[in-house]
Amino acid sequence: MNKDKNIPRHVAIIMDGNGRWARKKGLDRLRGHYEGVVSVREVIQASLDIGVEYLTIYAFSSENWGRPKSEVEGLMELFCKTIALEIPSLVEKNVRVVFIGEREGLGAEVLKSIDLCERTTRDNTALTLSVALNYGSRQEIVAAVKRITEAVSRGELTVDRISESVVADHLFTRNVPDPDLLIRTSGEHRLSNFLMWQLSYTEFYFTETLWPDFHREAFLDAINYYKTRSRRYGLVTEQIY
Ligand code: IPE
Ligand code: IPE
Ligand code: MG
Repeated sequence: MNKDKNIPRHVAIIMDGNGRWARKKGLDRLRGHYEGVVSVREVIQASLDIGVEYLTIYAFSSENWGRPKSEVEGLMELFCKTIALEIPSLVEKNVRVVFIGEREGLGAEVLKSIDLCERTTRDNTALTLSVALNYGSRQEIVAAVKRITEAVSRGELTVDRISESVVADHLFTRNVPDPDLLIRTSGEHRLSNFLMWQLSYTEFYFTETLWPDFHREAFLDAINYYKTRSRRYGLVTEQIY
């Protein structure tokens, strides 16, 4: 449970810069992705330590399929290996894992790993880790619009009952509160098709640090930044305090 009310309940991260990290060291891009797993582990542990309840990480976008075949295949292999390797420690840490994104398009091996991971960690309660894999925010919204429209045409829903909460309930992130803090590493200041609906009132934190160099202290720096923010949700300061 989150004891300090200044700790964000939900942190979302665009883990960027693995390729540049590897290139700077004269290594293959894939080595950067492998090193990035170490940062993921540290951020999960730090989240547990400080009482973050939801952590959402962007692992592979709908657009990342366009990368060279060898990188895409290497990433898929990394996902399978990492998930299998991490399940026991995630169970031990009481972390529940859910995957957000389209199942369609993922290979049989990846699907098997993510199903096993979700099933094995389903009842865990310390932290909900959402892994965005084959995820795109526009695709998610289009899929939601289609399902809502289908519900209307079946007579299960009327147009005047379509509300923000109906839309939110048709997204992959239903049952998860909106992120309080978004972190993007590697100096890029863009969303790259990540959680566009869910980030409407989120605080943004950008750092030049490349993802494989983003360790516990860097994460705590982002949390400290968050603590300094005043979230007004469209109101004026006097109404907040
Ligand atoms: C982020 O690192 C990981 C994925 C997108 C899978 P990048 O691979 O985008 O690294 P850069 O941005 O090329 O340095
Ligand atoms: C966003 O990073 C996707 C992930 C971190 C998985 P990208 O590296 O793909 O984003 P762009 O291409 O710089 O916008
Ligand atoms: Mg990138």
